[in-house]
Amino acid sequence: HVAAASAVALTMAAGAGLAQCDDGEVVIKFSHVTNTDRHPKGIAASLLMERVNAEMDGKACMEVFPNSTLYNDDQVLEAMLQGDVQLAAPSLSKFEAFTKKFRIFDLPFMFKNIEAVDAFQASETGVAMKESMTRRGLLGLDFWHNGMKQFSANKPLLMPDDAKGMKFRVQTSDVLVAQMKALGASPQPMAFSEVYGALQTGVVDGQENTWSNIYGQKFFEVQNGTTETNHGVLDYLVVTSVDWWDSLDADVRDQLATILHEVTATRNAESFKVNQEARQAIIDAGGVVRELNAEQRAAWVEAMNPVWAEFEGDVGAENIAAAQEINT
Ligand code: LMR
Repeated sequence: HVAAASAVALTMAAGAGLAQCDDGEVVIKFSHVTNTDRHPKGIAASLLMERVNAEMDGKACMEVFPNSTLYNDDQVLEAMLQGDVQLAAPSLSKFEAFTKKFRIFDLPFMFKNIEAVDAFQASETGVAMKESMTRRGLLGLDFWHNGMKQFSANKPLLMPDDAKGMKFRVQTSDVLVAQMKALGASPQPMAFSEVYGALQTGVVDGQENTWSNIYGQKFFEVQNGTTETNHGVLDYLVVTSVDWWDSLDADVRDQLATILHEVTATRNAESFKVNQEARQAIIDAGGVVRELNAEQRAAWVEAMNPVWAEFEGDVGAENIAAAQEINT
């Protein structure tokens, strides 16, 4: 046991997460795309692995593959349906092929902060969302927080007009494409692992992401600065395949679910702090962070507001109203 525990510690330190699995243990591969340190998802996935390997020894064995080393987000859900990976936590923007319900999370300025997102996810509507894709073979287990998105670019962005005509990387989401078009910018959907290179070589001029991703991927090093817009949310769904989940013995399934729920509660409570620390680390490393005054912020809200009406049919006017109720 001591040897197994130190092997886990070693592989975690290396960020590879290749635990030793014993015969007869259920093998759980968890694939994700971010870095492991100073990142809400990276830390949560590592903690989940550590606890499963310690507490379910002999029953289950988890391996985490971070940094898109196994799959990127465009591949991982198909791989899950094929049984090649058992857990993943793609951002809510990445589920478009499976459900349009998650589009509410991509609507600009829908949630004022991560607490509002948390409250919406805990509401009846949010809880039901986790089971909205079972017909397509996917089951959501828990929402994991990252945080609010900021805009970065190769020139200062203070008013929405500053983004006009510029190329911005977006996640593969129709809502985010529409959001950039509302600004008169040109949206370029692209895998997360390709963004740094695209910014560096000028394939795109800017991007939107959380502080932890802007820090973790070093985007700030190849951008003029980041503007603290908090204009949208980037959150995750820990997802599994219905077939695999149903194939587990009930005691294994229950213990895994319990550990996951505990890790979720612990790490979601820290996600804001992790992002604030990343924001500070960017400044400490010489990155520029710009804040908006009330007038500038109002201009961004107004410029992107037409996107809500465009997607009201997909997400439901009643859900928009429920989300707004939480914001007040
Ligand atoms: C992105 O593609 O920008 C994010 O979804 C990456 C992530 O998992 O945080």
